[in-house]
This record gives sequence, C-alpha cells and structure tokens, in this order.
Amino acid sequence: MDSLYIAPSLLASDFANLAGEAKKMSEGGADLLHLDVMDGHFVPNLTFGPCVVQAIKKNTQVPLDVHLMISQPEKYIDAFIEAGSDWLSFHIEATKDARTLIKRIKAAKVKAAIAIKPKTPIEEIKDILGELDMVLIMSVEPGFGGQKFMPEVLDKVRELRKMPDCPKWIEIDGGINMDTVGPAVEAGVNILVAGSAIFAADDPVGRVQELRERGRSCSKG
Ligand code: DX5
Ligand code: ZN
Repeated sequence: MDSLYIAPSLLASDFANLAGEAKKMSEGGADLLHLDVMDGHFVPNLTFGPCVVQAIKKNTQVPLDVHLMISQPEKYIDAFIEAGSDWLSFHIEATKDARTLIKRIKAAKVKAAIAIKPKTPIEEIKDILGELDMVLIMSVEPGFGGQKFMPEVLDKVRELRKMPDCPKWIEIDGGINMDTVGPAVEAGVNILVAGSAIFAADDPVGRVQELRERGRSCSKG
C-alpha cells in the first residue's frame, strides 16, 4: 500500500479551541482533518456549518475532509466548497442525484466522495464508483462519536476493493482505535478517521503516530 492517511475527527476535540486542536493535529502529523457536519435531520445531532469550516481553514495547512451528514446536500455543497473543503463527502442515502453532485464537487477541484451508512449495500453506488475519488464507509450509525466499531462493514471494504472501478481511497469512519485499525487496513482501508481514540488519549499527538504505525504494520503492500 503506497499511502495510509490518518484523519483525526475534530468532533471529539475541544470545540472552544478548534484552532488550537487543529494546530496540534497538524504538528502531530495528521494527513487530513475530518470535520463532521450534522443537521439534526439526516442524523439526530447538530454540529456546525460552513462558517466554522472556513474558520478552521484559516488556521491550518492540513487539508480538510468534510463529511456532510445532512439532508439535501445539493443545497449546501457550494457553501462548503467556498468554505475551503479539500475533500467533500455526502451520503448516498440523502440525495437522488449523486452524479450531478459529484460533477459539481470535481469541477471545483475538490476531491469527491460518497459516504454510506453501515446497512447500505455497495450496490447503491456501483454505477458511479469510477467517478469518485473516495468512498467513505461508515462503521457506526452516523451521528455521534464514541460508538462501537461494526466489524461486519469490512465485508463491504473487501467487496469494493475487488471492483474494477474502485477508487484509490477508501475511508472508514466510526469506532477506529488501536484494536480496530488493523482489521480495517487489512480489509483495504487507506484513510482512517478517529475521534475519541485520539482526543481522549493522554497524548493525542502520540496516538496519531501509534495508529499510523499499527495500520502500516497491518498493510499488505
Ligand atoms: C460519526 C462521525 C465520526 C465520529 C467518529 O457520525 O462521522 O466522524 O467523529 O468518532 P469516533 O472515532 O469516536 O467513533
Ligand atoms: Zn465523520
């Protein structure tokens, strides 16, 4: 495997000090910063919108990986692009026109991804796989950090990796920690989102490195 990215999720960080948390992760070698946008409708929780993404963008050099857990993503895609998203994911369950959304994201030179919930089959995105930069496989029900990893979603990762149109990047999100990182990488994941495993650690920066080392030791390539 040529690359393995660690994407700390700021959802588990100190929201009163987002700039400081982003800086700490940047200095700690994070490859992406994962930002969870929740609307209280697609998921039963609320977080933040494009203004906060823009504020974080101004305070870090690390590329922003924005995960939209919102209904009608087509209404807000442009605002999140403008705010400085470098990678942008929306949920296949939230839209009827994924293809148009992907085109809009890619036209803005932003990396385009589709996220799928644990119970959504790969079948749902099969026809547009070739147009994606990344697939985000949720390994918990979206909405909250700190939930337990669902190992059964790794079957979808393996299935995806076998498909001819599989994009280079497969991200996993939810319940990633020192125990689950290995199986995820072995299945074919190369972007690991981790919230509580990093920010609840005594040494969050050290944990970024530990996750990377554990992941690398389990990668085949
Ligand atoms: C959950 C979010 C995740 C969350 C992961 O809906 O999409 O990104 O921050 O948190 P942990 O790593 O604590 O499961
Ligand atoms: Zn997320």
